[in-house]
Amino acid sequence: MLVVITGATGFIGRSVCTRFAAAGWKIRGIARNISAQGMKDVELHSLDLEAADALPSLRGAELVIHLAGRAHMLEEKFDDLRAAFQSANSNATVHLAQAAARAGVRRFIFASTAKVHGEESPGRPFTEHDAPNPQDDYARSKWNAEQRLRHILPDSIVLRPPLVFGPGVGANFLRLMRLVERGIPLPLASVRNSRSLVSVQNLADCIMACATHKDAPGKTFLVSDGEDVSTPQLLRMLGAHLGFPAMLWPCPPAVLRLGASLLGRRAEADRLLGSLEIDSNAVRAMGWAPSLTLDEGLRQTVSWYRSAKSRQPKTDDRQAVD
Ligand SMILES: NC(=O)c1ccc[n+]([C@@H]2O[C@H](COP(=O)([O-])OP(=O)(O)OC[C@H]3O[C@@H](n4cnc5c(N)ncnc54)[C@H](OP(=O)(O)O)[C@@H]3O)[C@@H](O)[C@H]2O)c1
Repeated sequence: MLVVITGATGFIGRSVCTRFAAAGWKIRGIARNISAQGMKDVELHSLDLEAADALPSLRGAELVIHLAGRAHMLEEKFDDLRAAFQSANSNATVHLAQAAARAGVRRFIFASTAKVHGEESPGRPFTEHDAPNPQDDYARSKWNAEQRLRHILPDSIVLRPPLVFGPGVGANFLRLMRLVERGIPLPLASVRNSRSLVSVQNLADCIMACATHKDAPGKTFLVSDGEDVSTPQLLRMLGAHLGFPAMLWPCPPAVLRLGASLLGRRAEADRLLGSLEIDSNAVRAMGWAPSLTLDEGLRQTVSWYRSAKSRQPKTDDRQAVD
């Protein structure tokens, strides 16, 4: 069976390709730049989903997994960030869904984000039944994409992951590992938040479940590892695996928020200080359960970080917003 995976060369895409190849699927991957290394099981098509018709790349496909998208943009490169997110995450999804409908694709899975529900959970985990309340251009573009997708393909499956980590992770998670490894003192010991995460391996398994389970079509699922942690707990777990204990000192979170606001970094502070918990019972009810514990996922991430660092000194340092 043929699956088309958009964003196949990205962080999540690579793990999803590995998972589907192991299960015997034939894989066609879509990305703009297809000079990616180490993707021997994937027939890569170069395509800009914002501009080109994907129909020729979808012929013969049973399933489309739409991971291509933009979570981060450099402000100086785009005059209108809102329009840029809308084009990358919503318009591209619509073009692809229309092509999938024409190609007769039987199942369509879309990677949205837990941020569709907002930046801060209300003292309990969000569920799929909570009203969407996206707070930034990225989350608004994903919510807009979800709604337009449902009009074109009512049976499509929408996944809303929180922060995804694992081998190949970039952006903020990579920066956290670097800070802990360098022994930089962080004023986060007094933070009492709780955040959901999902490892890229567990997410790939969950996508496999959505691809094959008879009850998945038409549903929206929140997906997480189910072991929520505070920011200091996460840093301590990373420190234990890195062999460098996290250097944390106490500072009232209100002071940190104020300082971050004055420096124009309120959104980053909210991700470190606030709570964003999600409830993945709906997807678990379908029979999926995370196979990797949070601790094992972090161990594998640190192990990858060490080997990537020894191969190339500079890895991806973009700012992600999930
Ligand atoms: N990472 C997270 O923590 C997280 C959390 C929640 C949701 N998500 C969602 O999960 C999806 C995958 O995330 P990721 O972290 O794997 O992202 P990523 O590493 O940045 O990869 C993005 C992939 O999409 C491709 N792509 C981007 N724009 C494209 C376009 N216009 N046409 C064709 N291909 C395009 C990229 O390749 P080229 O640049 O070569 O085109 C790349 O293969 C995204 O939709 C993201 O919003 C991610």
